[in-house]
Parts: sequence; structure tokens; C-alpha cells
Amino acid sequence: MAILKIAQMGNPVLRRPADLVPIKSIKSPILKKFIDDMIETMREYSGVGLAGPQVHESLQIVVIEAHENPRYPQTPTIPLAILINPAVEPLTDETDEDWEGCLSIPDIRGKVPRYREVRVRAHDREGKELDFSVKDFFARVIQHEHDHLQGILFLDRMKKLDTLTYMAEYQRYWTNQ
Ligand code: NI
Repeated sequence: MAILKIAQMGNPVLRRPADLVPIKSIKSPILKKFIDDMIETMREYSGVGLAGPQVHESLQIVVIEAHENPRYPQTPTIPLAILINPAVEPLTDETDEDWEGCLSIPDIRGKVPRYREVRVRAHDREGKELDFSVKDFFARVIQHEHDHLQGILFLDRMKKLDTLTYMAEYQRYWTNQ
């Protein structure tokens, strides 16, 4: 496996809608290796999610996994999920505002409104169809990663920029760590 280079804000790949993955190619050795590398890269950089464009591949692939880590000390657990060509649909009008960060926007946090519950349809890495609903933190992470596939960054979703915070100040003022 390999650690992939992360595209940082300003890289045009982050602003392009990503291409659908042809279902027939899901189980190809190239894609299998790419997904393994995405997982490895997400873990290396303590991300809770990573989308194809963030590693310079304009493909609709998202990997998500969360457990306590230095970037997210009090995070709920999300088991490893691989979502290919995901469609995300809100199941409620209710939104929640909470802190987000992004490996493509290092050392910055901001409060972002997200739907509290969403339905997700996607394929897994075996090509199997998935259809499930998620709430709260998991729903937030999926919306963030799904946005990456549309060329949208979390800054675009902030209602106001007044919570924009550098990591050192975030840790000083906004966590109990
Ligand atoms: Ni991100």
C-alpha cells in the first residue's frame, strides 16, 4: 500500500465534479489498490474520511472511518465504509451546526450546518448495492465527503465565516482537551 499525496485547497481537482466509477471496474486490481491506498492515506493523516479528488483522482469514491484520534479526540466511532458513486438525500429538514475540518484545508476548523439524517445509496468495494440511513456525526461526515465529489468544500457550506478557527486556537478555546 502507498500513502497518497493530498490535494490542498486551490488545486483545481477539488473543484471539479468527480466522474462516476463504471460498475464493471469496481473489482479491478487497479481500483482495489487505489481504494486500499485511500484507506491507508486516511489513516496516516488521521482523517475521518477521504474522497477521490482529495488524492488527485476525480472519481466518485469515498472512504470513511472514525475512532478517537489526535485530530478528533472525542469522536464517535464509525466502522470502515467504502462508498462508490454515492447518492445522498436528506431525510429531514433539521440541521445541526458543528465543527468540521478537512485534510485539504489543513489546520483550520469551522462550524458547518448539515442535515441530521440522510439516506445513502452507493456501491461497496465488491460492487454490492448499499441503501442505508445515518444520523448525526456519520451523516455529517458523509455529507462532507459527498460534497468533495461535487467540487464543494466545507467553507462553501458555512453560513458565516465567524467561527473559522486555526487549530491551535481551536484546541485552546473550543475543546476541553
Ligand atoms: Ni474534506
